Amino acid sequence: MKQLINSNVGQYLEQLSHFGTRPNAGITRFVYDEAWTSAMDFVLSDAQTRGMKATIDSYGNGFMTYPGKNGNSVIAAGSHIDTVHRAGKFDGAYGVAAAVIAMSNLVEQYGQPAVTMTAVAFSEEEGSRFPTSFSGSKHYAGVQETPADLKDDSGTTFADAKARALATLTKNYEVVEQALPKEFLELHIEQGPLLEASHVPLGIVTAICEQKRFTVTIEGQTNHAGTTPQHLRRDALKAAAALICRLDNEASRIGEPLVFTVGEFTVSPGSSNVIPGKVQFSVDMRHPDKRVVDEFEAFLRQEVRGLQAVSGEVERWMDSHPAIMDSRLVDQFKRIITDSGQQFIMLPSGAGHDTQIMNIKVPTAMLFVPSRGGISHAPEEYTKPADLELGVRILEQQLYRECYE
Ligand code: HGY
Ligand code: MN
Ligand code: MN
Repeated sequence: MKQLINSNVGQYLEQLSHFGTRPNAGITRFVYDEAWTSAMDFVLSDAQTRGMKATIDSYGNGFMTYPGKNGNSVIAAGSHIDTVHRAGKFDGAYGVAAAVIAMSNLVEQYGQPAVTMTAVAFSEEEGSRFPTSFSGSKHYAGVQETPADLKDDSGTTFADAKARALATLTKNYEVVEQALPKEFLELHIEQGPLLEASHVPLGIVTAICEQKRFTVTIEGQTNHAGTTPQHLRRDALKAAAALICRLDNEASRIGEPLVFTVGEFTVSPGSSNVIPGKVQFSVDMRHPDKRVVDEFEAFLRQEVRGLQAVSGEVERWMDSHPAIMDSRLVDQFKRIITDSGQQFIMLPSGAGHDTQIMNIKVPTAMLFVPSRGGISHAPEEYTKPADLELGVRILEQQLYRECYE
């Protein structure tokens, strides 16, 4: 008897979430770590039970394919399987699950597609292990290769971590570099409050914001907390704290939808009775209009140049351009949703996505489903099963129009 394939996206996500789950601490699945490798193996082996051809490329991106009757053009859909630290179950994973399930439902119902359908599980999008992001989609889109010598906090290089993970995966999956697809579709949780606030289950993305990320290093003088008078101190932490407040005031002056975040902050040497000599912190800034982000970056650099008693350095390690979604695919999403008797809103994405990388080379479109309380990048991340299923049904119809008609 044909093995019943799991078309329940909630169950698929439950299984996928086991890889990297830590008791009371959400999911942590960093690119090329053990949990990531097991998760990629799960996704690929599940795809094989669905009759998909499952391969990886040299970055460990997972590709799951139903070959089409005509020629070699490919319609791709997917998302990333890496996570931030202490993540929820849905960011990235939902887009992979939705692509696999939508495609296997279509083949179950209509047989072989006219155009090849490929579900993609991107290796890394978050930038949570190495100082880079979108490394998987940048490779697939032929946009940028990631420096092999990038190091994570433990000093492991990107190349070594990748080699270790691929040594496991290549035991079961062939390495096949993929040609660019004709177009790319991504389902994702909104990771924000707008859909829930609108009481609407679907969001069609208009554009993805410009996003820049930096590491700021402030160096002063490590010294004794008791014997060093205030006026003689070169305190890196206090200088950093004052700088962050000035950045926050400037972000308020510029106004929304600019967003500015300091998510990482390290102090050294980090003892209570020692004046911090060195501080490093991250800066994440985003806005739909690239000029506003450029202006805010110039302000950051000017403030760091102007520091007194301490020195500062700004290293930008991410600059992702705003991506405008393809109007034909967007209009088709609109028609499909309306014909299904459902409602949608149009919205920009403040979150970055692999789609903005694919968008550099091919037409793209994204569809959001609601995040409860707008929460994401946290264990509390949640989307109702009915919303997850609805998103898959809409993607199915989009893929039907693109691959069967
Ligand atoms: O941070 C982001 O925008 C995405 O979730 N990686
Ligand atoms: Mn994501
Ligand atoms: Mn994310």
